[in-house]
Amino acid sequence: MEVIIQPDQDAVARLASQIIAKDLRANAHLVLGLATGRTMEALYQSLVGKCKTDKLDFSLCTTFNLDEYVGLAAEDAHSYHSYMCKHLFKHVNIDMRNTHLPNGLATDLDAECVNYENLIKKFGGIDLQLLGIGKAGHIGFNEPLSALLSRTRVKALTPTTLSQNATLFDSQTEVPRRAITMGVGTILDARKCLLLATGIDKAEIIAKAVEGPITSMISATALQLHRKCTVVVDEAAASKLQAADYYRWIFNNEPEWEEFR
Ligand code: F6R
Repeated sequence: MEVIIQPDQDAVARLASQIIAKDLRANAHLVLGLATGRTMEALYQSLVGKCKTDKLDFSLCTTFNLDEYVGLAAEDAHSYHSYMCKHLFKHVNIDMRNTHLPNGLATDLDAECVNYENLIKKFGGIDLQLLGIGKAGHIGFNEPLSALLSRTRVKALTPTTLSQNATLFDSQTEVPRRAITMGVGTILDARKCLLLATGIDKAEIIAKAVEGPITSMISATALQLHRKCTVVVDEAAASKLQAADYYRWIFNNEPEWEEFR
């Protein structure tokens, strides 16, 4: 795991978009794993800017989102499908036929999950998976006690997640209680992972995810097992990390990061 500490939320988004842009320029057929949530909004804005001003080309890339609510139609304003259209797909030259999200309205949800896994395999697996982190440490919607080898499946959301997401709905009762999510094992299969976290609210969980023991109670700790996982945080989210100075030294001195400094 590598941890990069940036001054603020905008710098996190800028750096993450540079990392994605570099991979997309190196491989136009990149298979990109996408996440939703507030943290990703600034990143998508930055990627849209790169598409418009630096001609970053999304036309051949394929995307797979981490998750979707069960019971919401793609057209529902609260679906993650709508979120992706609003924040990214509508503004870049992506071919919508190459974008994938689980179908939360599938009549056979278990079959939908198996099909989603198979589709990811058919495209050769995910090259770069974007991740946010929930306040209780979920990645995707892998809530506490998610098996660290779990695959795409339906998960019931915890009260913490329901209230975290309630602000985006009209009232807490409207937040769907279940979601289809890639499993922790599905995420770990990605060739690279890029986890973003910003704000003081994420400081405690980032310290546990990065420096704490691996536990299925906090699915983000499984990323410690990944061969190529980069965590980009702002100063606020980094404020409880014990080895922050060491991470800063690596970013400021290792040749690998020179072009991003
Ligand atoms: C969303 C997802 C979640 C969010 C996490 C952080 O697709 O998979 O794991 O990334 O809940 O959400 P924000 O950024 O809103 O704090």
